[in-house]
Amino acid sequence: MGRVIKVISLKHFFVLSMALNVSLILRAINQDNRAPMAVQKGINAAQMTFLSFPLLSSPTAATPATQPLGQNGRERVINLDHGDPTMYEKYWKQVGDKATIVIPGWQSMSYFSDVKNLCWFLEPEFAKQIVRVHKVVGNALTEGRHIVVGTGSSQLFSAALYALAPQDASNPISVVSAAPYYSCYPLMTDSIKSGLHKWAGDAKVFNKDEPYIELVTSPNNPDGFVRHSMVNRTGGILVHDLAYYWPQYTPISSPADNDLTLFTVSKITGHAGMRIGWALVKDVEVAKRMTKFIELNTIGVSKDSQIRAAKVLEVVSDSCEQAGGSEHVESFFHFSHALMTERWRMLREAVKRGGIFSLPEFSSAHCNFFDNNLGSQPAFAWLKCDGDDVDDCESFLRRHKILTRGGKHFGPRFRAFRWAQFQPVIGAQLMYKPAMPLDMSPPKLYSPTVILMPLPSGTTCLQESRDVKSGS
Ligand SMILES: Cc1ncc(COP(=O)(O)O)c(C=O)c1O
Repeated sequence: MGRVIKVISLKHFFVLSMALNVSLILRAINQDNRAPMAVQKGINAAQMTFLSFPLLSSPTAATPATQPLGQNGRERVINLDHGDPTMYEKYWKQVGDKATIVIPGWQSMSYFSDVKNLCWFLEPEFAKQIVRVHKVVGNALTEGRHIVVGTGSSQLFSAALYALAPQDASNPISVVSAAPYYSCYPLMTDSIKSGLHKWAGDAKVFNKDEPYIELVTSPNNPDGFVRHSMVNRTGGILVHDLAYYWPQYTPISSPADNDLTLFTVSKITGHAGMRIGWALVKDVEVAKRMTKFIELNTIGVSKDSQIRAAKVLEVVSDSCEQAGGSEHVESFFHFSHALMTERWRMLREAVKRGGIFSLPEFSSAHCNFFDNNLGSQPAFAWLKCDGDDVDDCESFLRRHKILTRGGKHFGPRFRAFRWAQFQPVIGAQLMYKPAMPLDMSPPKLYSPTVILMPLPSGTTCLQESRDVKSGS
């Protein structure tokens, strides 16, 4: 009798699960008036791409023999590994010519931008727009700071380590960050084996009685939490990486007032391809050494990119100051905040249904920019694997052609993985179903069903490739 009830309830579960799936898909298709991309490309809803992998006998089993193939016959993968912020493209399309610049052939030819400035390759207009956007958003003090521009904040990271490391020490200075930390820090710190600095791991367990540099990333990549220094003593040199301290990701509680803070255009406006970042540096000697590093490294930073970055930041600030007017219907941050809210809503819904992963919970705080109490909605989702069945989440999902970045890249072994919220998947549903209900064994064998919803812009997260490179 109990057996019959079990069969019925499992069957019910299946029917319910199917019904929920179908209704979610239909809802997403019907409601998705922001996702005309598939339609634009002449694909109707019935032809839309659905990747649904058949049930497997166990999470460690080989991938199904029949793989969905792309047009060129190669396997299709869903890449949620990279933090490539293409999702703001729609906003920049709407903005149109307001963000367009024309650079005549004769312009920007010299190496030099402002010979009177300590950072002689910093374009004055870009410097002006940096100061302006920080004032408009209220996320950093710029008074009494030197601005150093870099080819992405990645170059500034290396410049900062070069500038802060004691030049005459017999041993390289230790560089630490609290785990889970941004996976590129260890690689960038040790890439050139400079003899000036060396990666020393998790700041929470660093207890050497020697000088150190601590990287404080807030909100943090990968887990999105607001962070402060974690080394259990004073005297460290702090580098604040505030790539994500913008209103779409986290409440702006106060202007950052640090000795050395890194920002990047990549994460505020989504223009990662410009490769532009900036540092706000209090100490003039540190700013000079950072400038020297960039001079030795690349003899300055692309003027064209700085001019373009200045224009984009100008539009962001204009959109905030003139929101609701005829020129700017809404501010860039209202747009991007709403987008992130929707992505987190859908991801939370999917994760809740699946029951095998969990997401961090963020307490709300007052955001001075929106003048409202708001929660965080980070650029990355840090999903923990709660079930016992999946040990190595990255490999498990990779076998199902979903690329995420596994916990091991972010510090001492985490049973977690990072899911980039930047990519234009409107809804990817992580559903876990019992594999074979008929054998009456407890439903412990799982397979993900990933359903791609229509894509919102001209980009796609479906890659047709076997070689996926690592990146940010
Ligand atoms: C915390 C953090 N800092 C820096 C970077 C690199 O930024 P950029 O594109 O300016 O080199 C990233 C990119 O993902 C990041 O997540």
